Amino acid sequence: MRALAVVPHQPGSLALTEFNAPVPGENQLLARTLAIGVCGTDHEIIDGKYGEAPEGTEHLIIGHESLAEVVSAPTGSGFSAGDLIVGIVRRPDPVPCPNCAAGEWDMCRNGLYTEHGIKGAQGYAAEYFAIDPGYAVKVDRGLRDTGVLLEPTSIVAKAWDHIERIATRAIWKPRTVLVTGAGPVGLLAAMMGLQRGLDVTLFDRVDTGIKPKLAERLGARYRVGDLARIDPRPDVVIECTGAPSIVIAALEITSPVGIVCLAGISSGQRTVQIDGDVLGRTMVLENDVVFGTVNANRRHYAMAADALAAADQGWLRMMITRRVPLSSWAEAFKRGGDDVKIVIDFAMG
Ligand code: BGC
Repeated sequence: MRALAVVPHQPGSLALTEFNAPVPGENQLLARTLAIGVCGTDHEIIDGKYGEAPEGTEHLIIGHESLAEVVSAPTGSGFSAGDLIVGIVRRPDPVPCPNCAAGEWDMCRNGLYTEHGIKGAQGYAAEYFAIDPGYAVKVDRGLRDTGVLLEPTSIVAKAWDHIERIATRAIWKPRTVLVTGAGPVGLLAAMMGLQRGLDVTLFDRVDTGIKPKLAERLGARYRVGDLARIDPRPDVVIECTGAPSIVIAALEITSPVGIVCLAGISSGQRTVQIDGDVLGRTMVLENDVVFGTVNANRRHYAMAADALAAADQGWLRMMITRRVPLSSWAEAFKRGGDDVKIVIDFAMG
């Protein structure tokens, strides 16, 4: 079978390579890949900055945003041939740490977890993969075109889960949300904010192209320019750019008892200065919280599946700005233009 693989830390090594087809274990599902989403982490891996092959192997098959169709499933597994599934990215550390032991591998304490397509485990950008039913998430058959968005949605589902848990520290409940960065993660975070009945503003650098249109169709305000002037002041900020200057601005602009969730990572090495006053005056005297979040556990995938099923399917399709057949895979990694989410379509050949 064909799979997209790199030799980790060798920039430019990404290639469509022949691998042995997987032989599912007695209790495993065999799945045929339909689509793989491309994200910033994939770019970091193919640029040689991130990624780790499974122990004892040279190649890492990439692909952590999956959508696949079950080919065969053991009886009693809860799955049957034809079901649509998404593979969970992270596997718990083997020790395990207290969080991994309880299925909260997204909160791993010792860093010994593995991640399919990223760290120490083969990814899903292969024509077939075998998977334990416990790490496959069933997706509504109506989501054949858009179910590939489940993994990025699980990331924002976790962000919302933690924001809501932090918010229980006060009687008052947040109403206004600012999402910085209108890429796929930002747009999906905004979508889940609106599904919660909140007032959502999306902030981005570009004021033309498809992003403002996506915001409008979603029902979110769209703003560019000076973040310090954003109105209304956000009770919650979901920061998806990772740009240090935006992160600092986000800490300053929240309303009292605000929550800033950092969900983006910047690959550049920019240095910013932070005014001690920001920490003292705005963070301490206003009881603000800032926290980071990565990855998602099974509960978040379930939240994400519900959010996607409840979403406007036309809007989700609009977010997938390009579908590239596997045979033209290199096109999927060309940046630029007005792309939001690029998907490699395995079903197109
Ligand atoms: C993935 C996460 C993963 C993170 C760090 C992200 O792109 O969506 O599942 O934990 O990268 O490797």
